[in-house]
Amino acid sequence: MYFQRKEYKILEKGAIPRHIAIIMDGNGRWSELRGISRSEGHKRGAENVREIVKAALEIRLEILSLYAFSIENWMRPEDEISIIMDILESSLTEEFPNFMKEGIRFKVIGDRQRLHRSIRVLIEDIEEATANNNNLILQCALSYGGRDEIIRTVKKVLNLNLSTEDIDEKGISELLDTKGIPDPDLIIRTSGEQRVSNFLLWQSAYSEFYFTDTLWPDFTKEELIEAIYQYQLRNRRFGRVELGTIKCI
Ligand code: IPE
Ligand code: IPE
Ligand code: MG
Repeated sequence: MYFQRKEYKILEKGAIPRHIAIIMDGNGRWSELRGISRSEGHKRGAENVREIVKAALEIRLEILSLYAFSIENWMRPEDEISIIMDILESSLTEEFPNFMKEGIRFKVIGDRQRLHRSIRVLIEDIEEATANNNNLILQCALSYGGRDEIIRTVKKVLNLNLSTEDIDEKGISELLDTKGIPDPDLIIRTSGEQRVSNFLLWQSAYSEFYFTDTLWPDFTKEELIEAIYQYQLRNRRFGRVELGTIKCI
C-alpha cells in the first residue's frame, strides 16, 4: 500500500489489517482526572470516534468495529445510561450525512431490541441508506455481549431444525450478528484494562491484541498507527508451525 501522507509511511512495509476492533474504554476515568462529570468524558469519547473514523478512512481500513455499549452496561445508573444514549442519538444524527459523503457503511451488532425505539429506527434508517457504501464498514457494538450473541445464535440454530452434521464453524459464523464480516485481525483496548469484557468472543479466536494505558478520549490517530505498526511486527501462526523451522524429529 502506498501512502502519500508522511504520518503513514511507517506502515508501508507491512500488511494493513483488514479489520480493527476497538474497546473504547476510559471515558469515566478521563473525567475523574479532570474533576468533571462522567458525561463530559462520554462526550469527548464520542468526539474522538470522529477522529479515529477519519484516520481509518485515510488508512483505507476495510472494517472498523467499535464497542460503544455493552449488554452489561445496562446495569449502570439510569442517568448515565440516558446520557450515553442521548450522545449516541445526536452523534448518529449528525454523522449520517458524513457517512454518505465519505462512503461509510454503518451497521450495528448487539441486542437492539433493548434500545429505545427512536434510536432503533434511526439505526435502521442509517443501515439501509448506507448499505451500498463501500469505503469503510463501521460496525458499532451496541447493547452487545458476546455470550448474548452466541445464545441468540444457538436459538436460531434450533429454529432452523438443522441436523447435527450440518452445524459447522462457517454456518455458525453466518448466523452471528457479524454475518459476512471477517474476524478482527487486531483488537485494541484503551484505558489499561487487559480483558475482553464480553466483546466478539467467537470472532476474536485468532485476533491480535494491543493494550494501551491511554484513556479513550486521548487515543489519537498517531497511537492507532503505533498499534498497527506493532501488529505488523507480530507473527500470526494460527496454530501452525512456520515453513523453514527445524524438523521435529
Ligand atoms: C467507556 O468508558 C464507555 C462505556 C463503557 C460506555 P467507561 O465509562 O467505562 O469509563 P471508565 O472505565 O469508567 O473509565
Ligand atoms: C467495556 O468497557 C465496554 C465498552 C467499552 C463499551 P467497560 O468499562 O464496561 O468494561 P469493564 O466493566 O471494565 O470490564
Ligand atoms: Mg470502563
